[in-house]
Amino acid sequence: MYYQILMDSNQIPIHSKKEFEGMRNAGALTASILDKLQNIINPGISTEEINEFCHNIILKNGAIPAPLNYKGFPKSICTSVNHVVCHGIPNKNKILQSGDIINVDITVILNGWHGDSSRMFAVGKINKKTHLLLKTTYECLMLGIAIAKPGKHLGDIGYEIQKHAESKNFSVVKDFCGHGIGKKFHTPPSVLHYGNMGEGPELKPGMFFTIEPMINIGDWRVKILKDNWTAVTKDKSLSAQFEHSVGITETGNEIFTLSQNNTDLPINVL
Ligand code: MF3
Ligand code: CO
Ligand code: CO
Repeated sequence: MYYQILMDSNQIPIHSKKEFEGMRNAGALTASILDKLQNIINPGISTEEINEFCHNIILKNGAIPAPLNYKGFPKSICTSVNHVVCHGIPNKNKILQSGDIINVDITVILNGWHGDSSRMFAVGKINKKTHLLLKTTYECLMLGIAIAKPGKHLGDIGYEIQKHAESKNFSVVKDFCGHGIGKKFHTPPSVLHYGNMGEGPELKPGMFFTIEPMINIGDWRVKILKDNWTAVTKDKSLSAQFEHSVGITETGNEIFTLSQNNTDLPINVL
């Protein structure tokens, strides 16, 4: 979601208990597809094959791939390899090699509800620094989720993420952010992955949004390629991202897109 289209935080939808059920089902489908990917993401597979694999499972489950034709996006999922920050377009000529890292970002629409989540996968063997990037990015997401509860502020999430990323000398991408989600793909609020404690609107039960930090080994700046989608780091340094869809509850939050076999951090990244 583009930071430029900052959304009016006064209009954050509040959802009922019943509406949590819709998100739970959509999120579970998204998670189950991501769970299956660890077995097929190996050297030699193309990003188009990953797209087809996901597309077929989504349709088989009576759901719709939200990215397909969304603002002209041509494929069913986003596949972002190495220095691609986000919104990479699956392509039959992009063959994964040992040492690559890839983010697969899946959003399904099931019974009208959006389940949006992404994970990093390591292809074959990756080096130590790359491994630290993936692990740190996952920790950033989970620290952001841990602080998301009633009475906290949206800025607290960004603060936690930025503090952890920078403690490892990595940088936080500022051009893209998390977003409200529900019956629509992208709603208020914009969830920044950097910021200050206490800033932004207070979190309230019934808010649904994604947290999806993008963390770079080098500089935070990005540029968009001529396809008008693919975002890459300007300095070509590696970039990682993890994403969950969450709902604020009375006591904390519910992660709608949690893995069903505890592989939110895929085993080849552990
Ligand atoms: N799933 C992405 C997100 O986290 C959005 C992808 S939009 C697309 O917000 F058009 F690029 F697919
Ligand atoms: Co998202
Ligand atoms: Co996403």
